[in-house]
Amino acid sequence: MNTVEWTPAGARMIDQRALPTEEVYRTCATYQEVAEAIRSMIVRGAPAIGVAAAFGIALGLQASVAAGEDLPAAFERICQTMAATRPTAVNLFWAIDRMRRKFEQARAAGVAGDELAQALVDEAQAIHAEDIGVCRQIGRQGAALVPDGATVLTHCNAGALATAGYGTALGVVRAAVEQGKRIAVYADETRPFLQGARLTAWELMRDGIPVTLICDNMAGHFMKLGRIDCVIVGADRIAANGDTANKIGTYMVAALAQRHRIPFYVAAPMSTLDLRLETGDGIPIEDRAPREVTHIGDQRIAPAGVAVANPAFDITPSELITAIITERGVAYPPFTAPLRRLAAGD
Ligand code: MRU
Repeated sequence: MNTVEWTPAGARMIDQRALPTEEVYRTCATYQEVAEAIRSMIVRGAPAIGVAAAFGIALGLQASVAAGEDLPAAFERICQTMAATRPTAVNLFWAIDRMRRKFEQARAAGVAGDELAQALVDEAQAIHAEDIGVCRQIGRQGAALVPDGATVLTHCNAGALATAGYGTALGVVRAAVEQGKRIAVYADETRPFLQGARLTAWELMRDGIPVTLICDNMAGHFMKLGRIDCVIVGADRIAANGDTANKIGTYMVAALAQRHRIPFYVAAPMSTLDLRLETGDGIPIEDRAPREVTHIGDQRIAPAGVAVANPAFDITPSELITAIITERGVAYPPFTAPLRRLAAGD
């Protein structure tokens, strides 16, 4: 299963909207198609969105070179289209910045035409390959925190499907399992888009890792019964003080975990850190269509015309987070200094 990959025909990705009932792959041949795939959640999850955007930019530049367009102007237009897809996951903007740096460096070095387009394809493929390695390192860093025999609660999908492969939160689970630990997972279904029910349950079952699906409103009950040993979630953006944006409902899980003295871990690559923001207050929260709440698939479950709120993410305050697991190491609170040290590579 490849979440997203480069092929000669374009960016090929598994259509995550169709899972778990159908395994359908779609190939985006243009940057506009990649942008639409991100917007419509064919591809989702912060690192996977970043990789897809990089492939989209490479596709866009290839087309602009072939059409003989003014490249700096075309490149900006392509980047702006990508940047307008989804606002919360900073990995998207990280990937765009990295592709922009490559474009500028290559042009400054006199690279042009097909060679310039190829340089951007290579950079996008490097982002893809690095992401898998980064997830494995996050897994290694985090596995030590998960005791043998533990039951881990996770929210949303921070697995292979949310990254180029292996996953962040589920990468920690996978690494612990690879070390021979007996780990079981409780997966919150994650209303309204059901990433936990549709995606986390599917990918863990494929790997033979024991998974129990629960509704979001059952987490507190199982914590109270002593059935959860730790919580591990992914992140879409982490501010300098450790405040973390992740899928809506994460904050509720973190508050419950604190109430029951259960460790609450965030697992994320360094590309999810946004040190320009001091706190989570500055993180933009995406609002999605009311239909995601009023319908399950094509089935209406609420009266027509009802008012709906559908924020796709919430911010978990850093004081509810036990540790942040990155590929470079594990940060403990207060997070500001350790996160800056990790970012500086110390
Ligand atoms: O709306 P989504 O499905 O893109 O949201 C995904 C999440 O919130 C994930 O937990 C996050 O991106 C981390 S993925 C490694």
